[in-house]
Amino acid sequence: MPALVLLGAQWGDEGKGKATDLLGGSVDYVVRYQGGNNAGHTVVVGDQKYALHLLPSGILSPGCTPVIGNGVVVDPSVLLSELSGLNERGVDTSKLLLSGNAHIITPYNVTVDKVTERFLGKRKIGTTGRGIGPTYADKINRVGIRVQDLYDESILTQKVEAALDVKNQVLTKLYNRRAIAVDQVVEELLGYADKLAPYVADTVLVLNQALEEDKVVLFEGGQGTLLDIDHGTYPFVTSSNPTAGGACTGAGVGPTKISRVIGILKAYTTRVGAGPFPTELFDEDGEALRRIGGERGVTTGRDRRCGWFDAVIARYATRVNGLTDFFLTKLDVLTGWEQIPVCVAYEIDGKRVEELPYSQTDFHHAKPVYEMLPGWSEDISKAKSFSDLPKNAQAYVKALEEMSGAPISAIGVGPGRDETIEINSFL
Ligand code: GDP
Ligand code: IMO
Ligand code: MG
Repeated sequence: MPALVLLGAQWGDEGKGKATDLLGGSVDYVVRYQGGNNAGHTVVVGDQKYALHLLPSGILSPGCTPVIGNGVVVDPSVLLSELSGLNERGVDTSKLLLSGNAHIITPYNVTVDKVTERFLGKRKIGTTGRGIGPTYADKINRVGIRVQDLYDESILTQKVEAALDVKNQVLTKLYNRRAIAVDQVVEELLGYADKLAPYVADTVLVLNQALEEDKVVLFEGGQGTLLDIDHGTYPFVTSSNPTAGGACTGAGVGPTKISRVIGILKAYTTRVGAGPFPTELFDEDGEALRRIGGERGVTTGRDRRCGWFDAVIARYATRVNGLTDFFLTKLDVLTGWEQIPVCVAYEIDGKRVEELPYSQTDFHHAKPVYEMLPGWSEDISKAKSFSDLPKNAQAYVKALEEMSGAPISAIGVGPGRDETIEINSFL
């Protein structure tokens, strides 16, 4: 049972970092397979809090080898500062493996991300401004720069030239910005080569050999299902595939190797950036969820939009990812509400709809149909088993499980590693 995928079942920030870290002690490899430093994964170990952006959350478990797969986009300066930040706090990062095929977020792509958003004005996506979209666009346009290019100056120069050829035209003529000099970019990128060299590896080979030896490999998704470029709320999405299939392409592992797919699901819903969000709240309940849940972005510091649990989305995540389990997080945040609304279906143009509509227009018109579930007032943060939870909290979990289409195998009742109720073992 060696390969597990752990991914976001909603719009990101479900608590993937905590869930990955929890399993990190029992797995041999933790692999990021897509996204980049748009991710912000919080891990709380004892009284220490870590915010990871590019590094897999397994980096905090000493026995675990962290891997950045080919599907990730890597900003070298961010990677190096994340590594040195952890080293200063006594975390050993020497085992990290970085795919030579991963694409590099170049400084010009950070610029392009920001100017494009400004140019879009009201229609902007609300990106994290980290250069993610333009870097994946370069990859698809076959003008991307890969980690391995840092080790051949002549090839690197040719590739940067090719990329800037068009980009400088756009920057100067369309966006009224100064052109970016090839030499400057090449010099900056070459400056990272030696520092990254100890980590660069053929990660596809390493991971497949590990699986042959029955080692346990955990694939940690960034973002979430509804932010997926194919299956999310396009165009208000990120530029990669956080869904389960992304683990195969983004790490070079065949689908026959994946044995379990765990969806991380918040007991309510949040979203950062623009785009439709049927259960979004604009009242004091939304404000309370934001305050009690600490719903502020780890990467950009933006307030997260908050709303009630949406079972239509959870069912959709079960379907497109082939989820075998859910890890329900932040149940403790809901303590204190007398009644908790849960969205069971949508009403779209007067009709009740049970499944996520494929049409963007319909989804924009979707109004939540709520069922009210009784709340609880007891502190649940010390609960260690399902039976420790108050009856109404148990019923809330059971109702969500029934509506969402996969068993809830763990429940988060606080941010710490040990603030978790394990129902079915993941390993
Ligand atoms: P990620 O991007 O999916 O890793 O999630 P983030 O780290 O961006 O946001 C999740 C936040 O919720 C973090 O601050 C976590 O420490 C916190 N968290 C995770 N699980 C729980 C939980 O069960 N209860 C509470 N109260 N907080 C949690
Ligand atoms: P984690 O891994 C929540 C959102 C941005 C924006 C859209 C596109 O912490 O769950 P991008 O910079 O990726 O081009 O922005 O995606 N977004 C996230 N929202 N959590 C994340 O990561 C996100 N990463 C990107 O807010 O709406
Ligand atoms: Mg996050």
